[in-house]
Amino acid sequence: MNQYLQNIMNIIQQDENLSAEQKEAIAKSIKEAEKELEITAFKLDRTEKVKRTTAILLEETIQELEQKRKAVEESNDALQKSLEELKATQQQLIQSEKMASLGELTAGIAHEIQNPLNFVNNFSEVSTELVDEMNDEITKGNLDDAKEIANDLKQNLEKINHHGKRAGDIVKGMLQHSRTSSGQKEPTDINALCDEYLRLAYHGLRAKDKSFNADFKTEFDESIPNINVVPQDIGRVILNLINNAFYAVDERKKLNESGYEPTVIVSTKKEGNNVLISVKDNGTGIPQNIVDKIFQPFFTTKPTGSGTGLGLSLSYDIVKAHGGELKVGHIEIENTSDSHVSRGITFIIQLPISE
Ligand SMILES: Nc1ncnc2c1ncn2[C@@H]1O[C@H](COP(=O)(O)OP(=O)(O)OP(=O)(O)O)[C@@H](O)[C@H]1O
Ligand SMILES: [Mg+2]
Repeated sequence: MNQYLQNIMNIIQQDENLSAEQKEAIAKSIKEAEKELEITAFKLDRTEKVKRTTAILLEETIQELEQKRKAVEESNDALQKSLEELKATQQQLIQSEKMASLGELTAGIAHEIQNPLNFVNNFSEVSTELVDEMNDEITKGNLDDAKEIANDLKQNLEKINHHGKRAGDIVKGMLQHSRTSSGQKEPTDINALCDEYLRLAYHGLRAKDKSFNADFKTEFDESIPNINVVPQDIGRVILNLINNAFYAVDERKKLNESGYEPTVIVSTKKEGNNVLISVKDNGTGIPQNIVDKIFQPFFTTKPTGSGTGLGLSLSYDIVKAHGGELKVGHIEIENTSDSHVSRGITFIIQLPISE
């Protein structure tokens, strides 16, 4: 029994003024009081325990939150860094494209690959940490939290895939760039070359997409002499212009305008000391506000995976390396409600007959 209650009990037992019944009644009350005290002490103890467990759980939750915050912060930093690098590299690339040196551009592209690689590395690192966290949550039975982490993981994997594909596209473009330097110049029949690549482009597209169809015509000046060029390189320029033209007419065809006939015309002409090769289409055209950008490396309006945006910049470099010019010809503006949108475009390759 509680020491203080025992003392009271002893004093009462020795008091001669109290009767035996009174003493018994008091003793009973004291025992009841002791029981109450014990219950209260037990409850207090339990409350204390609950408080301690809650504190531990709270501490754990705070730690988890802190970990998640760090992960988010890290991927934000990585994103920000890559974005800045991307901007800086793009700037450099545009500069070196102006300098028009194939070697410089190739080096620039290799540098460009670093950006998607950084994304891939950073996101896979963060994802590894997330897997550990998810496992912890599963062990603890917190399935809702685990699901949330799984969603984050999926998003990261999608990003990794996206940037991996981009790196792949860039490598493809880079190989094209580097291959150009190996060829030898030789006297070349430009009309035959145009004809060959026009067919190549048309049948290449038909092989990829059975539903693709467009009219193509040639208007060759038979009086042009053979000129000294690297045939694979000039062929690649013509191929890119024709591919762009076919793409543009196919896009316009999808608009289902009545009476629309997709047409691409390749023509040649002698003008002074130059041979002009023009590729004309009646496709979607190029809005005035982007026409200045189309020669920039990586500029594309095609959906991801369809184009790298290197076609025209590569072509520009090749033509420059031949002492020629690659220009956008006259833009035909139809009476559309949007006067800024031209319909159809002509690209002109100008090559010197004798250097
Ligand atoms: N004939 C055209 N008609 C309309 N737009 C064109 C035409 N040619 C080029 N463009 C525009 O210029 C952009 C850049 O062309 P470029 O050839 O450099 O790259 P791409 O065709 O997008 O990709 P890639 O050639 O690497 O497959 C195109 O995405 C498109 O917006
Ligand atoms: Mg192209």
